[in-house]
Amino acid sequence: MFIVFEGIDGSGKGTQARMLADHLIRKGKKIVLTEEPTKELFTGYFTRIILRSKDTPHPRTIALMMAADRNEHVEKVIRPALEAGEIVISERYYWSSFVYQSLQGVSDDFLNYINREFPKPDITILIDIDPETAMERIIGRAHGNDGLVQQFERLEFLRKLRRKYLEIARKEGFLVVDGSGTPKEVHTRVVAALEGYW
Ligand SMILES: Nc1ncnc2c1ncn2[C@@H]1O[C@H](COP(=O)(O)OP(=O)(O)OP(=O)(O)O)[C@@H](O)[C@H]1O
Ligand SMILES: [Mg+2]
Repeated sequence: MFIVFEGIDGSGKGTQARMLADHLIRKGKKIVLTEEPTKELFTGYFTRIILRSKDTPHPRTIALMMAADRNEHVEKVIRPALEAGEIVISERYYWSSFVYQSLQGVSDDFLNYINREFPKPDITILIDIDPETAMERIIGRAHGNDGLVQQFERLEFLRKLRRKYLEIARKEGFLVVDGSGTPKEVHTRVVAALEGYW
């Protein structure tokens, strides 16, 4: 069973992925909790460095780097765990490319092509949250005007991301979970949404 959490920055994906993993471990399931960009593979290491650098790569280059990291992730972590009968929970997967790189102008054809060999998740859970709440969770209150302008631009981008996520969710049949409220409240919704899958 391959479960993916998606959502805009600060939506609570990581928090919910961990809480679901703990919940399933308590039920005696074997869980592999993982994320993209990867933390332990060299491809993820390079991707994270380059994403933070000032020499911003072209969006298609980012898509290719994400796909390279995903290929390592799939072949070294995800596929072996699935073959061993374990439950894989990943924070982000190729849907993130279809949202972020698509908004950066990369064509769906290109994204489809470079991601076409990867296994499809059994369940994708979209943690849906309004961008204002997500921003508050990430950075708290603004200090000074520069901060406010930057936040506003960021907020605009988060709005576009959310719209794109909801569009794909409808098309692909994601479980869309309301991400507002406390982590525990969201977790209860996640468990309820998954009811019937096992
Ligand atoms: N329901 C919640 N209520 C309040 N704060 C939360 C909630 N869920 C998560 N947080 C906090 O908000 C921040 C962002 O959460 P988290 O890291 O889980 O989001 P994320 O979607 O994984 O973000 P990123 O895209 O940056 O990886 C963290 O500091 C986390 O502790
Ligand atoms: Mg996270």
